[in-house]
Amino acid sequence: MKKQVGIEAVALAVPRRYVDIEDLARARGVDPAKYTAGLGAREMAVNDPGEDAVALAATAVARLVRNNEVDPSRVGMLVVGTETGVDHSKAVASHVQGLLKLPRTMRTFDTQHACYGGTAGLMAASEWIASGAAAGRSAIVVCSDVARYGLNTAGEPTQGGGAVALLVSEKPDLLALDVGLNGTCSMDVYDFWRPHGRREALVDGHYSINCYLEALSGAYRGWRERALEKEVVRWGDTLPGEQLARILYHVPFCKMARKAHTQLRLCDLEDAPGTSTSPEAREESAKSQASYNEQVASSLVLNARVGNVYTASLYLALAGLLHGEAAALAGKRVGLLSYGSGCCAEFFSGVVGEGAAARMARADVDGVMAARERITIEEYERIMGLPSDTPEPVEPAPGTFRLAEIRDGRRNYVGGA
Ligand code: HMG
Repeated sequence: MKKQVGIEAVALAVPRRYVDIEDLARARGVDPAKYTAGLGAREMAVNDPGEDAVALAATAVARLVRNNEVDPSRVGMLVVGTETGVDHSKAVASHVQGLLKLPRTMRTFDTQHACYGGTAGLMAASEWIASGAAAGRSAIVVCSDVARYGLNTAGEPTQGGGAVALLVSEKPDLLALDVGLNGTCSMDVYDFWRPHGRREALVDGHYSINCYLEALSGAYRGWRERALEKEVVRWGDTLPGEQLARILYHVPFCKMARKAHTQLRLCDLEDAPGTSTSPEAREESAKSQASYNEQVASSLVLNARVGNVYTASLYLALAGLLHGEAAALAGKRVGLLSYGSGCCAEFFSGVVGEGAAARMARADVDGVMAARERITIEEYERIMGLPSDTPEPVEPAPGTFRLAEIRDGRRNYVGGA
């Protein structure tokens, strides 16, 4: 039997505070419907300086290891995908390794390419395992980020933060990856960037949406070409994209997943052999509400409550989908689209495992989300104004980590017990 490789288990960490998105809209004098219906948001996570990419990653990995009884001596690689790392040189992964006292024998490194960095890590890990070089060992891939645009900017309602840790192995209880089918598309563009020394990202918002859609088209067509060759999908009564039970997208804001799905359908409708429909009819069909409801909507529950989590956003959608539908989707194939500004997109697929529901129960998604506290916009603005290098002295909740202080450029963390 061909070796299976993929995601065995997942764990989440989110900041302990959030704002209601309608409160933010009212404070900015904006019609709340713009943020709810227009962007698809409900709530937005608020990171304080103690909840940096290291603290969130370490909290997520601690939960992954504890909840799934992972034997650290069997883990040969620890990768952190992040675009909000804390040092130009020292890897977030080395902090996580130290905080969790993981074995010295593992390979540790960070991967960076805007929101695509986590997927780069997942592919490095899964292809390392598939190649046989891992010799039976597993990998941990953590996506951890703080999405920050600043007060009173167009990007403000699309901020957020958190981390998603993935155990990658030859026992893919959650998702067995279709190794070798992936399609990629990269372009040199300035759609979103954060020059050295800046805390807030710079973004050409509407252009970034176009870049995302163009890169999606290239990546999806690449995947589809290989999936057709291997007869994973086919041209027939239904479109190739419709043969995937669900499609998960990178979610900078929830409405983006709807735009992405329309674009993916348009690729199929335009390329279908012998098509004689008009461009107008294709555009109309691409927007199908029924298709969006069936294939996409259910994956957005967590993203709507956390906001953009950059590298982790696609994997938060995966956790949200499987939290609600793991049992119903067992044995079914789903598609995943990762996008990172700058830019690189990758479309890949996998089959949901029979063990997914049991693994999701261990992730305790409801418990993690319920531990959060809703704050006022005044409190959110106070937190946004705090300097990044002087975290408030707050006792971390049991099992979580926090940045405690920075001395001579060295960061000290507390918590974990
Ligand atoms: P904006 O210009 O303020 O908003 O910023 P808008 O005018 O485009 O309106 C947004 C939507 O709300 C529109 O819907 C409006 O019609 C609707 P659409 O036409 O797009 O379907 N709307 C309303 N709906 C109901 N009632 C109302 C109402 N008013 C308006 N009263 C923008 C929006 C997303 C550009 C901004 O928030 C932004 O710049 N965000 C950050 C950039 C971003 O998220 N880009 C996404 C693609 S790039 C990416 O995903 C990579 C990224 O994650 C970074 C990385 O890779 O590291 C960002």
